[in-house]
Parts: sequence; C-alpha cells; structure tokens
Amino acid sequence: MKPSVFQKILREKKLLLPPLSGYTDYPYRMILAQFHPPFLCTEMVNARALLQNNWRSKQIVQLVDGDQYNGVQLVGSIPEAMAKAAQIVAHMGCEYIDVNMGCTARKVTSRGEGVSLMKQEDRACEIVAAITAAVDLPVTCKLRLGASKHALNVVSLSQKLVDAGSAAITIHGRSGEKKFGMPVDLSIIRHTAAAVQVPVVANGGISNGADAVHILQDTDAAAVMPGRGLIGNPWIVPEVLSRLSDQRYSPPDLQQKKDVCLQHLDLLVSFYGERRAVLKMRSILPHYFSSCMFLKELKKDLQQVTTASHIPLLLERIQGTQTHDVYRGVHHR
Ligand SMILES: Cc1cc2nc3c(=O)[nH]c(=O)nc-3n(C[C@H](O)[C@H](O)[C@H](O)COP(=O)(O)O)c2cc1C
Repeated sequence: MKPSVFQKILREKKLLLPPLSGYTDYPYRMILAQFHPPFLCTEMVNARALLQNNWRSKQIVQLVDGDQYNGVQLVGSIPEAMAKAAQIVAHMGCEYIDVNMGCTARKVTSRGEGVSLMKQEDRACEIVAAITAAVDLPVTCKLRLGASKHALNVVSLSQKLVDAGSAAITIHGRSGEKKFGMPVDLSIIRHTAAAVQVPVVANGGISNGADAVHILQDTDAAAVMPGRGLIGNPWIVPEVLSRLSDQRYSPPDLQQKKDVCLQHLDLLVSFYGERRAVLKMRSILPHYFSSCMFLKELKKDLQQVTTASHIPLLLERIQGTQTHDVYRGVHHR
C-alpha cells in the first residue's frame, strides 16, 4: 500500500487500532476483523527476535485475513535490524509498519528501545529512514509526549520523523512515567497535529464513541486510537466508526457478548492450547462483562477454572435483569 493511500483511508475512517501486548494477538485480531476495522495491528514484536527466527515472534506476526489493512508493530533500536525485520514482515503480507517509540517496560527501555528512542532523536529518524528505504510500505510511529514530563519533545520529534519518511504519527498523550492514571494532555497532541502535514492519531483514555468524538474535536487530530478500551470490547470498533460518521449504533446484548467471548475462547484454545488459553481467559473474560454486578466474585471463581469446558458454565451464571447484568456465582446458590 502506498503511504498516500494509507493516509487517505486513515483520514476517512479516523480509526486506527492499537498494538496491545498480550491482547491483540492472532485470536483476538480474528475476532476484531469481524467488526471491520479499517486497520488492525499486531502486538509489538522485537526486531532482533524476528531476525533470529524466534517461534514466539513468528506467532505474534501471523496476520489475519479480512478486509482490513494489517500492520505490524516493530520494537528495536538498530536501524539495520529494524529494516530487515520490516522486510520479513512485508514478505508475510504486512501492509504497514508501526515503530514503537512509547513502550516503558524496563526490558525494552534498558536496550534503548521503545520510549527511550524519544531521547535519541537522530536514531529514531534513522530507524524510520532505514525502514522506508527497505520496504515499499507506509511507516508510522507511535510516541508518547516525551520520555519524561521534563522532556516533552513530541512536537519537534514528530516533525523530524515526518521528514525522515513517517506517514502518520500516533501520540499516546502521556509522558513516559508509566502511570496510566495520569491525565491525557490533549493540547500537545493539538500542537503536533498543527505542526505536521501527515495524519496525527490521538491515543489515551478513549473508551467509547463519545470519547472519540471529544478527543477529535479537542485535538484536531485526523484519527483516534483506543487502548485498554479495546480489551474484551470489540464493539468499540463499530461504536467509534458509527459515532464518527453520524450513524446509529446498537450496543451488544448479553447473549452477543457471551457468544463472542466463547468464540474468543475457542480461538485461544486452537492457537495456544488449552492450558495457556485458560490462563489468558482469566484476565480477558472479566473485560467482556465489565459492567456486570458481582464482577469481583466472577473474577475469583475464574481463578479456580482449569479447563476450557468450565468457562461456558461460568458464563451461564451471568444473567440479565432489566437494569443490569448480574453474576450469580457459587455464593448465590
Ligand atoms: C496491556 C497493554 C499492552 C500494551 N502493549 C503495547 C504495545 O505492544 N505497543 C504499544 O505501542 N503500546 C502498547 N500499549 C499502550 C497502548 O497501545 C495505548 O497507547 C495505551 O494503553 C493508552 O491508551 P488508553 O489510555 O486508552 O489505554 C499497551 C498498553 C496496555 C495496557
């Protein structure tokens, strides 16, 4: 895909889905694809590990068929390695490459990768230039406001990254102190959107369609990217797409949530095997039913579940009432 086509579709659809390590894996992207997002991105994958043919990395970049454009997020700090990794994933059918410049995990930043790249502006630009020279695909960058609140350089760095070839800039509107509870700074996103010609994507604190509308208005960004709001909630895709195009949106009912959650479980079992699938479901399932009463009890009972066949039984205990869904766990019998 040409960068200009990517930019056109991004400006039209105004939605980019996030890389979420541990969550936007192949099974969940299979679910998400059914909701027709314009773009779908893998979890971050380490460029070095990909070059070493690491099986887990190959698993991460397995792409999902569908009408969406598939992106891969690369994490790394060596331009040549990033360029070679980009060639590998391009060969696998990837249609755009995102460069991680926002991850704050110590194992990432201690190698000068992720948000550390925001402190190494020349290197960050060399990475973008090396990838754009190596593959004929749009390259995007995902940044924070800065590596720390004392070094908020996203506006100037974005300009340099665009000069180096970046086709779009995503900004997680927090600095690199890791605290997800910190408020999102929309004014810096707005300044960046005004300072660069390419689409800017606003990220941070978007959990529903109304958030998406407000953040677009407040930042003049071209598009939005939800984050944690996507976990256990693929319906955020049609919700945001319809709110941003003034269409009606009907939220899922309880049975639809149960059906998709069970489909997610099946996909996890096929992809990872039962043991790992059940462990993953322990953290994912409560997100599908986050507004349910007695969620704490549901989470507790879920910790006792060891086989996939127990999970439908647990879901049967979630019942709808006129006003809300209720988990009627063991304590209710
Ligand atoms: C569990 C989890 C995993 C994440 N994994 C990645 C990742 O692989 N790459 C990345 O650039 N950001 C990652 N992020 C950051 C999100 O993409 C997003 O920028 C952040 O959650 C802010 O949006 P929110 O406030 O709506 O959650 C991750 C965040 C969470 C909570």
